[in-house]
Amino acid sequence: MPKFTDCFSLMRLVFATNNLHKLQEIKHLLGDSIELLSLNDINCTDDIPENQETLEGNAAEKSFYIYNKFGQNCFADDTGLEIDALNGEPGVYSARYAGEERSAELNMDLVLSKLAKIKNRKARFRTVISLVIDGGEIQFEGIVEGRILKEKRGVTGFGYDPIFMADESNLSFAEMTMNDKNKISHRGRAIQKLVDYLIQIDGDETI
Ligand code: IMP
Repeated sequence: MPKFTDCFSLMRLVFATNNLHKLQEIKHLLGDSIELLSLNDINCTDDIPENQETLEGNAAEKSFYIYNKFGQNCFADDTGLEIDALNGEPGVYSARYAGEERSAELNMDLVLSKLAKIKNRKARFRTVISLVIDGGEIQFEGIVEGRILKEKRGVTGFGYDPIFMADESNLSFAEMTMNDKNKISHRGRAIQKLVDYLIQIDGDETI
């Protein structure tokens, strides 16, 4: 089998997202070694189901949906903020913790109010990536441990960034540059594992 690094036989992978920010982040890490397609690129406008109760289940549901319907090798990710004092909430419900409008401000306000009188602020972001190649699945996990701040700090990023501080920093995620955040973030770590795997199977010439 040809290597995907050969210029005439690039491996083609669909990333089950239309989030341009995530797409750019992964393209940057992969370089030119694979042809990365978005849902737009394969003309997929479906509302891809995410009905599982775990990050692992949701990531797999998305990647298999694309593989089964479009016959393309692909990967999908799912992320959650897990707060120890809230028994792992918001977890798989992170995007819509405060309601279906998916408001980051309301989600953060809800977390801050639930933790108002709680000392234990330990939390982590966890990303799971499900990669499906020729019908077989492998998953990669990325975790960043940290804590929930007492109030919002910073303006960059998205989601819960203003109230999360990683253990290896004294800035909230929303006070860091995107580059610095990516170096330690859950998604950055999961993506790096995916990239390492793709490079390794390319070297083994198993695809
Ligand atoms: P998704 O699975 O990447 O769509 O993430 C689900 C939800 O988790 C998002 O809507 C955000 O609320 C939250 N989230 C995911 N990644 C981050 C991050 O890097 N910073 C802050 N919040 C995030």
